[in-house]
Amino acid sequence: MKILGFMGSPRTKGLCAQFTESALKGAASRGAEVKQFNLVKYKIKYCRGCHSCVYKNHELPIGICPIKDDMAGILEEYLAADGYVMACPVYDFTVTSIMKAFIERRFPLFYKQKGLHGKVPDARVKQGFKKKASLIATGDAADEYAAIAEPCFEVMSGHFMIEEIDVVDQLYVGLIHSVDEQRYKEKMQQTFAMGVRLVEEIEKARQQGGQ
Ligand SMILES: Cc1cc2nc3c(=O)[nH]c(=O)nc-3n(C[C@H](O)[C@H](O)[C@H](O)COP(=O)(O)O)c2cc1C
Repeated sequence: MKILGFMGSPRTKGLCAQFTESALKGAASRGAEVKQFNLVKYKIKYCRGCHSCVYKNHELPIGICPIKDDMAGILEEYLAADGYVMACPVYDFTVTSIMKAFIERRFPLFYKQKGLHGKVPDARVKQGFKKKASLIATGDAADEYAAIAEPCFEVMSGHFMIEEIDVVDQLYVGLIHSVDEQRYKEKMQQTFAMGVRLVEEIEKARQQGGQ
C-alpha cells in the first residue's frame, strides 16, 4: 500500500511539514510505503484554463496538460497510490497558493463532454471509496475558531468527492505560533494516529469490497 503526503506550506521545516511527516510515519508503522511531497519544492505552474486536459483523450486515465513541468509525473504517482494526506496552513482564510496551484493542476484527472455546461467534470477513474484521505490544516487562529479552516478542508477534499475517495479524518491545529512542548507532543501523536487510521480504513474498505 502506498500513501502520499501533499504539503502546501512554503516552510518545509515548519509545523505543517512536521505533522505531515508524522502522519506518514503512522502509515509506515502499519506497513505502508510513504512519500511526502513538499509541493513548494516542485515545479508546478498555475493552470491556464485552456480545458484541453478535460475535453480530450477521454480514453486515458490522465488527460494531457500542455504545461510541461513536474505535474504529469506527480499525477501518475497520485493515481497509483492508495491513500493521501493533504496538509496546508491557512493563508488568508483558505489554502496557500502553492496548494491551490497543485489542486487546480489535478484537472487532468477529470473529463468533460464538450458543450455540456452546468455540470461538474467527472473523474476519469472512480475509486469506489477504496482509497482514503486525511486532511490537516494549521493556523494562527485558536482551536475554538477552527471554522476558519473549513474553506481549506473544502478545497482540499472537493476533488476527492468526485473521485469517490473518502476523507476519514480532518484535523485543525490552531495557535500554531505558540505551540508548547506538551501540545507539540500531543499533536505529533494525533497526526501519527491519523496515519495509522488511514491505513486501517483502506484495509477495511478492501475487505468489505469498496464501500
Ligand atoms: C500570508 C499569511 C496569511 C495567513 N493567514 C491566516 C489566516 O487567515 N488565518 C490563520 O489562522 N492563520 C493565518 N496565517 C498563519 C499561518 O496559518 C501559519 O503561519 C501557518 O499555519 C504555520 O505553518 P508552518 O509552520 O507550516 O509555516 C497566515 C500566515 C501568512 C504568512
